Amino acid sequence: MENNLPLMSTYSYLPVNLVKGEGSCLFDDKGNKYIDFTSGIGVNSLGYGDSDWLKAITDTAGSLQHISNIFLNENALKLAEKLTKISEMSKVFLCNSGAEANEGAIKLARKYSFEKYGPNRNKILTLKQSFHGRTLATLTATGQDKFHNYYFPFPEGFDYFEANNIDDFINKLSNEVCAVMMESIQGEGGVNPLKNDFVSSIYEVCREKDIILIFDEVQCGIGRTGKIFGYENYNIKPDIVTVAKGLGAGLPIGAFLCNEKLSKTFNPGDHGTTFGGNPVVCSGALVVLDKICNKDKLKEIEEKGLYLMSLLKDINSPLIKDIRGKGLMIGIEIDGTTNPSDIQNKSLEKGLLVLTAGKNVVRLLPPLIISKEEIEKGVEIIKEILITMHN
Ligand SMILES: Cc1ncc(COP(=O)(O)O)c(C=O)c1O
Repeated sequence: MENNLPLMSTYSYLPVNLVKGEGSCLFDDKGNKYIDFTSGIGVNSLGYGDSDWLKAITDTAGSLQHISNIFLNENALKLAEKLTKISEMSKVFLCNSGAEANEGAIKLARKYSFEKYGPNRNKILTLKQSFHGRTLATLTATGQDKFHNYYFPFPEGFDYFEANNIDDFINKLSNEVCAVMMESIQGEGGVNPLKNDFVSSIYEVCREKDIILIFDEVQCGIGRTGKIFGYENYNIKPDIVTVAKGLGAGLPIGAFLCNEKLSKTFNPGDHGTTFGGNPVVCSGALVVLDKICNKDKLKEIEEKGLYLMSLLKDINSPLIKDIRGKGLMIGIEIDGTTNPSDIQNKSLEKGLLVLTAGKNVVRLLPPLIISKEEIEKGVEIIKEILITMHN
């Protein structure tokens, strides 16, 4: 849809002007209040106005807003120490977004394979219905045909297999494959969790064949599923993990982490970015990790997720086909005759923000600090809408 704004028409905007946030709620320019079940697509993990986060970023901005990467900055180092500790990984590269983190992960996996096996072992396998970003390589990695248009030529060396179909994976394996990349819960694709035995089988094959296993935790990482990383729900350990969104809590950040095996692959000059490791952003991310990545908070997120799920499952509407997800990442699959955008618009009118995903899914990603009372109020609104829509 075209608009007359000087911004490129890449987004269709919803009809409210949000001007302020507080806790898990947002306010528009007319003073209307909205419960936020979106977190700005999984970004505002600490909600709005967290005083510790705010103090950290404003203090840092006041003393050192940026230095180039020819100097080591303390906050980047502290964040790297914390990230490697909580993930039990060896090294981290700090960047600015999810796509950039995935792009870097692809480069790292390919360089590892190039050095060990030569230039022809470079293929990355990803899942159908996946989403990995908007750069040319991560768009190509995204296993949805609708994204593979206009921008030709796309980079070579990607192929796709069906989620939860191990036979399809085996069929796509060849001597050219150097890495497999997947989300433990596909977010944009429709909140599709992977099955345990599927993930275990892929893990085993990758280990056996020295194929690099990359988990894209951009949407489902940093506590979103009630674990620090979504892959922990499967008891496996990838070789590379990518994170972004919720780690920044509202400031742009991305990171990819690797295990010991890949820790010597990158050398000076192999990769870089101007803003990655920015002191302000890193100081905010440190607060996020302190507040989210501890046993009590993760347990609380898991419990709130189960509560949200149980309230949704109590809604008796034939429009609901499935409710799935983990922690505070939940998808409500709607009957194919109903447009999830209609539910999104009606929610907005009633004071609730929700997201859509895939073809017919209403996606819920509330701030990780949301209260039970706010969860109840939000679900009441969804219930009312679904029941009215059916009648
Ligand atoms: C799983 C996943 N990977 C990568 C990305 C891209 O992240 P960004 O928009 O920060 O580049 C997204 C964004 O929605 C995502 O959900």
